[in-house]
Amino acid sequence: MQDFLSMADATPDDVTTILDRADAMKAARDDALAAGRSPVTPEVLDGRSVALVFEKPSLRTRASFEVGVHELGGKALPMWNTEINLGGREDVADVAAVLERYVQAIVIRTFAHDNLVRMAEVADAPIVNSLSDHEHPCQVLADLQTVREEFGETTGRTLAYVGDGNNVAHSLVLGGALAGMDVRIVHPDGYGPDQEVMARAADLAVDGATVAATTDVRDGIAGADVVYTDVWASMGQEDEAAARRAAFDGFRVTTDLMVSASEHAIFLHCLPAHRGEEVDADVIDGPTSRVFDQAENRLHAQKALLAHLLAPHTTAGSAP
Ligand code: CP
Ligand code: NVA
Repeated sequence: MQDFLSMADATPDDVTTILDRADAMKAARDDALAAGRSPVTPEVLDGRSVALVFEKPSLRTRASFEVGVHELGGKALPMWNTEINLGGREDVADVAAVLERYVQAIVIRTFAHDNLVRMAEVADAPIVNSLSDHEHPCQVLADLQTVREEFGETTGRTLAYVGDGNNVAHSLVLGGALAGMDVRIVHPDGYGPDQEVMARAADLAVDGATVAATTDVRDGIAGADVVYTDVWASMGQEDEAAARRAAFDGFRVTTDLMVSASEHAIFLHCLPAHRGEEVDADVIDGPTSRVFDQAENRLHAQKALLAHLLAPHTTAGSAP
């Protein structure tokens, strides 16, 4: 795997290798911290540098990548678009060509997915998508890690994503297919996922995994092991928020709706969340919610991703 622009850049083997390593890194880190030792395993990135470019706001992505690079012995270089002005001050391809002379990987959160594609065309250094308007694959690695922690495996599990057919939905359908899960996107009319992504996910599916989209909330959620939602208006869609609130009426994840899922169902949300909008406070703050484990797993999954891209042959940081 050279770049990680999309979940579709990973093979099922990549996903398993990254998740296994993320679990091992999490266990080793927990042990080190519990024993009062440093969680840093400097040999993994061994002084290498990673640029973190943000064209949109972030809490989890910035914090987890910056801490993660530090814990692997590297140097993180966070940069905001107010200083770079992608495509305005400088062409995005030139930004990549310059940055790769300084750093060994470029992690970028951007609006236009094409910015990532153009960077990957010119840069030999790995380009990692930390959210574009089309996908959010780093999030989905953490989501899959969280599902495995809960159920022991992903294969054969059903995930119902209720809400906008957006970047998170796209990466979930692709990542779920690669991990052998049945993924259903449950969306209002006019807010479904990209049909090309659905077709690609169906092509990539392993172990009998299926992908589907429906506008029937009860049907879509029925028997699901995992119920997932995201904001109705993503970053950059703030002007559409009122219209979307009207269109998404009936698509809030409520305690009543959770009853239609499996009796052992868990609730996930990539965060940030809007209680009373896409999810009831009783659900996100209730016993089925795993949202803060999911947020924590961003750290472990991304450390494993960076190790996979930059130091695939080291086992440092893994549990014995
Ligand atoms: N889930 C997620 O990507 O959070 P941030 O936008 O805060 O990075
Ligand atoms: N779909 C949301 C995800 C935020 C992590 C957005 O793009 O704003």
